[in-house]
Amino acid sequence: MPSKILVIGACGQIGSELTYKLREIHGKSNVIASDINTRKLDLVNSGPFEIIDAKNFNAIKDCCKHHNIDTIYLMAALLSATGEKYPMEAWDLNMNSLFHVLNLAKGGVIQKIFWPSSIAVFGPTTPRNQTPQHTICEPTTVYGITKQVGERWCEYYHSKYGVDVRSIRYPGIISHKTMPGGGTTDYAVEIYHEAIKNGKYDCFLSANTSLPMMFMDDAIKATVDLMEASAHDLTIRSSYNLSAISFTPKDIFESIMAHLPDFEITYSPDFRQNIADSWPSSIDDSVARTDWNWKHSFDLDAVTKEMLVELDKKHGV
Ligand code: SER
Repeated sequence: MPSKILVIGACGQIGSELTYKLREIHGKSNVIASDINTRKLDLVNSGPFEIIDAKNFNAIKDCCKHHNIDTIYLMAALLSATGEKYPMEAWDLNMNSLFHVLNLAKGGVIQKIFWPSSIAVFGPTTPRNQTPQHTICEPTTVYGITKQVGERWCEYYHSKYGVDVRSIRYPGIISHKTMPGGGTTDYAVEIYHEAIKNGKYDCFLSANTSLPMMFMDDAIKATVDLMEASAHDLTIRSSYNLSAISFTPKDIFESIMAHLPDFEITYSPDFRQNIADSWPSSIDDSVARTDWNWKHSFDLDAVTKEMLVELDKKHGV
């Protein structure tokens, strides 16, 4: 029997592209997309779609029963910058939605969960360079706290109740199909849009702020590969470190300048600078590389080429 999948938060930056990929692999009718509203119409109209508030346990459960769902990808969350503005909302959404799907798996309603964690689990006391899989995690953002605590609960549900939950600590994700929202790493997407549309960008991080990043295609591949990996090969049930590239706003500016020589950048760091400063600049993901053969494909120049070509189709004249 083919897997029946529910993606919660399917209109978001990662959720949307993940839904398209899962439909390609498993068939359109086997992947139910859901979100709290229908804000992304191309996604909503691309196959089965349900309006679900991720905080509503019964809504998720009813949908699982109705569609015989066995696997949930829980992609709904408030990210780092939004979480600082609405701390209780971030806690409420990020934690309750996770408990809902963990409890559905514990109760035997579903069999498998993907839940994203983040580099935000790390904090100022974490080693900044080549941050190890097992290290100090003392996050200073609400978002980071929800992800760090969530990781503990994932591991707990796996070891106590045998729940098959799998997770990745995503770095900043760069994509051209759906805009990110409310993250500290969002500048690395905005900068490409502004380069094409206006030829200049005012960056909310300073020139030399290095953060771990990844192109969307690599992030989706990692997610699919981890979910397809044999459970016997997985040694991490909290969340896997995952890494591809690290760069600064200055690096990305120079990479864009190579294609658009008139592009200009200014720097106006705001409250997100503090968040970025508390995160690692590069990640050691050797455990993911060993356990399930993770390998990235896109370096910064490949990302820049792809982004400029695709966004030129969208915004170019
Ligand atoms: N992209 C996220 C953020 O900036 C990090 O996981 O909040």
